[in-house]
Amino acid sequence: MDYPKWMLDAIRCPETKEPLQIKEDHLLRADGLEYPIIDGIPSLVFPPELVGQDKKLNRFYDLFAPLYDLSERFFGRLITGIDIREGRKEIVSHLGLRSGMTVLEVSPGPGVFQQHIWDKITPNGELVALDLSLGMLRQCRKKQGRLGTHLIQGNGAYLPFMDGSFDALFHFGGLNLFNEPEKALSEFVRVVRDGGIVSWGDEGFAPSVPEGWKKRLLTRVNPGFLKPIPTVPDGTTDVAEYEVYGGFAYLEVAIKG
Ligand SMILES: C[S@@+](CC[C@H](N)C(=O)[O-])C[C@H]1O[C@@H](n2cnc3c(N)ncnc32)[C@H](O)[C@@H]1O
Repeated sequence: MDYPKWMLDAIRCPETKEPLQIKEDHLLRADGLEYPIIDGIPSLVFPPELVGQDKKLNRFYDLFAPLYDLSERFFGRLITGIDIREGRKEIVSHLGLRSGMTVLEVSPGPGVFQQHIWDKITPNGELVALDLSLGMLRQCRKKQGRLGTHLIQGNGAYLPFMDGSFDALFHFGGLNLFNEPEKALSEFVRVVRDGGIVSWGDEGFAPSVPEGWKKRLLTRVNPGFLKPIPTVPDGTTDVAEYEVYGGFAYLEVAIKG
């Protein structure tokens, strides 16, 4: 695996958080349990048999991965009236990222934010992208060109990293439909260093969005719109909240501490 040493040192078992031995084609836990490396991507998924929403949606995301970006841009403009690519750039502009930072993006999908993140953390930054869907990660790899994002397959609610591994964590667009969203938020905080940045966001209607067909349609096709914004996780302060994507999504940016 062609990953930098700091990252290999930070990798942990997603279940017990103990260190793993890195072998050629798998990662090995002390009791003999093996986590495979698939197409060069370490697969550190827990639980091994997905349950609930994670199980239900993962196959869909795998299949939908090649079309995801195009469909989001098309339907995004139709519904919100904005160019989703501009919306993504704006979201990353709120994250407080700086050159040299080590960032974990949870649920990158096909990597729609990665160029904007690299623009902020270059030079000397590092980006790790973790997603439950191998199909999405393969698209992420296709899209990244020479960017050098390090890919991991994993569950956002069981992050395979030691405490305080990253300067910043960014998650957008998956939380509402995660099987264990509160647990994921506490994991987001755990893997960021003290004073680092924890940010998360998802679909949700801002008060400025009028009642009407758009709201009715979106809540029908995506139950995530019915979810309230999650409670801010323990261990964070200075939370800033933004309406993004024309008021059809929210973003929260907090400091760990
Ligand atoms: C709607 S897409 C969002 C992609 C991208 N972040 C965006 O905003 O366009 C949701 C992503 O969350 C991932 N996902 C779903 N459940 C997950 C989980 N439990 N842990 C990590 N990623 C998950 C999916 O595989 C998918 O890539």
